[in-house]
Amino acid sequence: MAADPFRGDEPLEPGSVIGIIGGGQLGRMTAIAARQMGYRIAVLDPAEDSPAAQVADRVVVAPYADRDAARELARMSDVLTYEFENADADAAEAAGELTPLMPSGSVLRTTQNRVMEKGALRRNGLPTADYRAVTSESDYMAGLKEISGPWVLKTATSGYDGKGQVVIKTADGGEAYRQLEGRSPALILERFVPFKLEMSVVCARDGSGNVRTFPASENIHSNSILDTSIVPARVAPHITERASDLAIAVAESLDVVGLIAIEMFLTQDDELLVNELAPRPHNSGHYTIEACHTSQYEQLVRVLCGLPLGSVEMQQPSVMVNLLGEVWVDTANKPDWSGALSVPGASLHLYGKSEARVGRKMGHITVMADTVEEALARATESRNRAWRRA
Ligand SMILES: Nc1ncnc2c1ncn2[C@@H]1O[C@H](COP(=O)(O)OP(=O)(O)O)[C@@H](O)[C@H]1O
Ligand SMILES: [Mg+2]
Repeated sequence: MAADPFRGDEPLEPGSVIGIIGGGQLGRMTAIAARQMGYRIAVLDPAEDSPAAQVADRVVVAPYADRDAARELARMSDVLTYEFENADADAAEAAGELTPLMPSGSVLRTTQNRVMEKGALRRNGLPTADYRAVTSESDYMAGLKEISGPWVLKTATSGYDGKGQVVIKTADGGEAYRQLEGRSPALILERFVPFKLEMSVVCARDGSGNVRTFPASENIHSNSILDTSIVPARVAPHITERASDLAIAVAESLDVVGLIAIEMFLTQDDELLVNELAPRPHNSGHYTIEACHTSQYEQLVRVLCGLPLGSVEMQQPSVMVNLLGEVWVDTANKPDWSGALSVPGASLHLYGKSEARVGRKMGHITVMADTVEEALARATESRNRAWRRA
């Protein structure tokens, strides 16, 4: 019988198998951390050559909703996790009946639905933008009156990178509703927050309730896709402290065992509002690989295996820039990696995706430097060189 960190048993022995639902880059980087520590990896993904499958010991190729496949993954694993919140919750829970699933299926269900997610936050007294659930055109029209504009209308489920969202600047006659109607069982209408900046905190929580938060990242999005993460965030220390406290409150209120990333808005009057939760490693936490004693990926492996949480201390300011498919498309598929890596302190991560498409996350570059300004300048330069723009 495998050790179960939930029950406070012995940690999982090296050589044990971590099963990951989802084969994307977050699974890949988790697998790399796990392998460094002597664990084995099994991956469930519909694609045979997914980024995580390339570094896994075993792969189950099947649709996420295939419960038998999820159970097959469970049988070959000693502990299970998921690397994206749109994983099929029924299949994940079926797998979780055979092998411990962390974070739990209920955390997955809550965070994969924006209405449930915001409801859980509000019930726990945690701050969010004003919102209302929308299941009909009349709900939508009522929402426009109840909540002050501008607004964002989003699908409750399966959105990512800004997909399934419409910004509404002035009250319309239902056009935005009709644009998204039927794309998800429900929609959510939110107040559009004229934020000063966006931040995120990745929080790790183990089976005994110990918590640790990574330094807060300041995030710059481009077309609703994360473009740049700057750490430390360029805000007063009391704000990063509050961001960290808020992240811990979220992790505790949902009883998360594993990682949870909390995306937040810093409002014009320095209030923090929770925008979105992700119960997994986060794009904005890639910097931890180079910059922190323990990366977010290793921290997850530690929780999954019942090992003590590692130090999250940061060595130096760091900036991460995403490499989207544009870099390939604009350079006719030949980005200049030598140029990118000629910038001092630049680390290159590529996810092994064979096809580059505009907006697709293909890799990232992290740069550490003595100051955050220097790190930002170098990270930007490194990417521009890859992009043949410098
Ligand atoms: N209520 C809002 N007010 C202002 N900006 C928003 C709001 N909701 C989303 N955005 C912008 O769109 C981005 C993506 O939205 P988000 O809700 O995080 O969905 P996802 O990341 O799943 O696509 C956010 O990071 C933010 O820049
Ligand atoms: Mg988001």
